[in-house]
Amino acid sequence: MVKVTWLGHAFFRIDGEKASVLIDPFVNGNPMCPVKVDDLKGVTAIIVTHYHGDHYGDCVEIAKKNDAPIIAIHEIAVHASKEGAKSESTNYYGKVEVGNVIVHLVPAWHSSEIGSPAGAIVKIDGKTIYHAGDTGLFYDMKLIGEIFKPDLMMVPIGGRWNMNPELAAIAVSYVKPKIVIPMHYNTFPPIEQDPEEFKRHVEEKAPDVKVVILKPGESVEI
Ligand code: NI
Ligand code: MN
Repeated sequence: MVKVTWLGHAFFRIDGEKASVLIDPFVNGNPMCPVKVDDLKGVTAIIVTHYHGDHYGDCVEIAKKNDAPIIAIHEIAVHASKEGAKSESTNYYGKVEVGNVIVHLVPAWHSSEIGSPAGAIVKIDGKTIYHAGDTGLFYDMKLIGEIFKPDLMMVPIGGRWNMNPELAAIAVSYVKPKIVIPMHYNTFPPIEQDPEEFKRHVEEKAPDVKVVILKPGESVEI
């Protein structure tokens, strides 16, 4: 059993039997985040999808406190190392193994102040999770779905800097995960969205996919 907890915005905690992985740990400055940096214990790896403040967030402090590596695109990993954190560098479709967790970064159509923007595939305890990062819609999402066959996808629906609910539902129809969780909405006024609208679009465009709408702090078990 893998427990996936939404901590607001694009920040998720994935707990397996022996590993706990954070993705995009945006704690300070995130009005939707229900935890403090000091609450984040037992972390074994931290994935950062790209270098924007709402994704790189507090990764260095959390990495140091937990003695956990930051997994990121090469230039971001090098930057995190310069800030004193352990890091593991990779690039699109490469592979990093930390403990029993395998991480592949995949493309995302977005921008990044350092390096290139990515999505992340996390393989843990027999489950595969695809966190799409901040991304616009792109057709290679079909390839990501075909190769990795994710059990769970997290997809941004904020609409200002990435996809709106309708485009995000098209992305879901390309990837075909078993379950999808919408993210990156309602953190700030410019990205106010109704996740129920996303759910309606998914029911129309990808009826086999189950939509799970979480509140920050809530979990799903897969
Ligand atoms: Ni961004
Ligand atoms: Mn963002």
